[in-house]
Amino acid sequence: MSSVVVVYFSGAGHTHLMAEAVAAGASQVSGTTAKLLRITGDQIKDGRWKQPEFLETLSQADAIVFGSPTYMGGVAAQFKAFIDGASEIWFAQGWKNKIAGGFTHSGSLSGDKQGTLLYLATNAAQHGMVWIGFADLPSSYFGKTDGLNRLGSFLGVMGQSNLDMSGNPAEIDPGDRLSAERYGQRIAEAAQRWTA
Ligand SMILES: Cc1cc2nc3c(=O)[nH]c(=O)nc-3n(C[C@H](O)[C@H](O)[C@H](O)COP(=O)(O)O)c2cc1C
Repeated sequence: MSSVVVVYFSGAGHTHLMAEAVAAGASQVSGTTAKLLRITGDQIKDGRWKQPEFLETLSQADAIVFGSPTYMGGVAAQFKAFIDGASEIWFAQGWKNKIAGGFTHSGSLSGDKQGTLLYLATNAAQHGMVWIGFADLPSSYFGKTDGLNRLGSFLGVMGQSNLDMSGNPAEIDPGDRLSAERYGQRIAEAAQRWTA
């Protein structure tokens, strides 16, 4: 068995839906368990992480997939606080050689989502993790309309929904959901090869 944990922050719910899709994709790979860990922003006090069981779940994972909405061209403050609060793990190299991946969601077509993915990959490199990119070509190149990798992102997965101030529940584009699922599968397969 190998385990994939998706750790993410989501304010309005879009990144949460992306996280669910990554976990669903990972679960489709037999011999994989997938778990979601949602950062709520109140788990940090004085720069220290208050929930040891949260970090314990991550320490037992074979693969960790990091997710954050893009806020001001980078990760959300709540997500960054989690990463900074987990820096003791960096000292102990506790995530070294785990498989890593990342995804983001934002309101604009570009919205500078690349900045978020670059940060997620940099953080994974600092931890000595093994970063997995997204390997599906945009299916539109082949005349398909399923939206797979419609945003043409390869460092990790991007999702995008136009800003909706009406207060309706969050929804994500079906193509972005499919991309997140496919990425979850790829992460789970990589984790199995890496741990074999
Ligand atoms: C503080 C803040 C900053 C944002 N900055 C960006 C941005 O730089 N680029 C962008 O495209 N969207 C930006 N947005 C829009 C969010 O990325 C978008 O609403 C996203 O879907 C939120 O994800 P969530 O539903 O998981 O919270 C910002 C939203 C907030 C609240």
